[in-house]
Amino acid sequence: MAAGSAMGSSGLAPEPAVLAAALAMDASVASTAGKAPAAVATPGAPGAASGIQAQRLLIIDFGSQYTQLIARRVREVGVYCEILSCDVDAQTLAAFGAKGVILSGGPQSVAALAAPELPEGLFALGVPVLGICYGMQAMAAHFGGAVAPSSKREFGPAEIRMRGSSQLLSGLALNAGGGLAVWMSHGDKVAAAPPGFKVTATTDSAPIAAMEHEAQPWYALQFHPEVTHTDQGADIYRRFALDICGCGGHWTADNIVEYAIARVRRQIGDEKVVLGLSGGVDSSVVAALLSRAVGEQLICVFVDNGLLRKDERAEVESSFAASNALNLNLVTVDAKEEFYAKLAGLSEPEAKRRVIGNTFIDVFERTAKNLDGVAWLAQGTIYPDVIESAASAHGKAHVIKSHHNVGGLPERMALKLVEPLRDLFKDEVRAVGLRLGLPEALINRHPFPGPGLAVRILGEVKPQYADALREADAIFLEELHAAGYYDRVAQAFAVHLPVKSVGVVGDARRYEPVVALRAVETVDFMTARCARLPFDLIERVSARIINEIPSVSRVVYDLSSKPPATIEWE
Ligand code: XMP
Repeated sequence: MAAGSAMGSSGLAPEPAVLAAALAMDASVASTAGKAPAAVATPGAPGAASGIQAQRLLIIDFGSQYTQLIARRVREVGVYCEILSCDVDAQTLAAFGAKGVILSGGPQSVAALAAPELPEGLFALGVPVLGICYGMQAMAAHFGGAVAPSSKREFGPAEIRMRGSSQLLSGLALNAGGGLAVWMSHGDKVAAAPPGFKVTATTDSAPIAAMEHEAQPWYALQFHPEVTHTDQGADIYRRFALDICGCGGHWTADNIVEYAIARVRRQIGDEKVVLGLSGGVDSSVVAALLSRAVGEQLICVFVDNGLLRKDERAEVESSFAASNALNLNLVTVDAKEEFYAKLAGLSEPEAKRRVIGNTFIDVFERTAKNLDGVAWLAQGTIYPDVIESAASAHGKAHVIKSHHNVGGLPERMALKLVEPLRDLFKDEVRAVGLRLGLPEALINRHPFPGPGLAVRILGEVKPQYADALREADAIFLEELHAAGYYDRVAQAFAVHLPVKSVGVVGDARRYEPVVALRAVETVDFMTARCARLPFDLIERVSARIINEIPSVSRVVYDLSSKPPATIEWE
């Protein structure tokens, strides 16, 4: 479900006066304005409870693959929430100021020696608690119930039957047979409810599929309402967040825009801010937001590193021109030669990445230093980046990528850091971008890696390879658009291979490099499979590339899945 529509559809947007009051009490933001270089917030540190973030839920992460999904579902019903690790200390927990807490699922068994426990001080908060899967089992164990291994792991669809009355599940529309379709994914199950708890739903294989306390606002579900296969899962989260916890549903796309603008205005005051604009969604939305918030105080720097897609700069400019003439004060730096010179002779992918990151920092720093009176550096960090950094700091994340080219820049340049999207998921960033008037074509653009075409030119990067690849890539994307396939794949691009092959064009022999086409279907980019594009579409792209680009001899299509392959070739 798209956040944009969901966020707008709660019907619970506050009156403007309520919002204004909420913004006015945003003391944490006001207090940072005009201060000396702001410390970069600790990754994963909870944000301050203020404004439309004041009525907030906390999600305690026990390591479930669905934890982020829980957070997105809660936000989709109009309630701000954050995720903290299950080892959060009691002080941080209390300081967060949650109006309710959700305990995620997790891969462990509560019987395991090192099983994560409920955070200390959780029930002393005196707010409603909802345990999901492992969260339910941890609650059951905590209060003296019994948790036992299931005879077999239950994974997939199931149907629950309601039992007795339930605060949480009342009001759901049951199917004709009196059941509700849900999604299960568990090995253990609650075998006996703790004292004071009553069973509110059951399935054949999990007799205690839901339970809640007779007198306290403590609820638990064995199934996963955050997964779309659970019927009316959004209603369960809505019931918990709005009715049981009493949150007001202020977290809507329109309010987020208004709130973010007001917050950034107060943070930056009348000082100047510089942003590295790449043409990607995140930096474009930051640009639009800052332009709306502080107008002429924003300066955008666009570095042409010679590794961009065809017409990249023109596309960015026309996107902004189309969006109500937002003023970007765009400074373009032509640094192609510098990048090519530094990349010469390098063919190892990580070495290429390092050189590009460092060169970008050099160019950006040089450019920004020549700008008069800049005090702030804006960055397009989004909430999943924050979660990933926190997970890596806790040593819990296995796959981490540092995608930000400007790491270390704020300290080096003694600039204060402003990250207006730091609290937002990607779908919220997109919704905000659309509300700010950015065109859908920009908002729905495929991701493009920071090192650009350098990781798609295998081996040494040479200007002539970049030129050929830019053309091949443009032909591929043009044909995908024309056939209506661009929006049906998650990412598509061409790759320049360091392999020459023989061809014959007219009467002449051609001995030139090979180009590969890559198109993938994925939701999270962690796993992906090759897109099953129509064969005649691929064939048409191949014919055009070979006919229109003399320095390409042959075109192949990449069938690999991720894993074991990755999406990019380097
Ligand atoms: P892989 O190749 O790891 O890519 O399957 C997953 C997603 O991440 C993008 N990607 C990058 N993005 N800097 C970036 O900003 C990088 O170094 C980088 N490497 C991969 C890739 O395009 C895909 O969307």
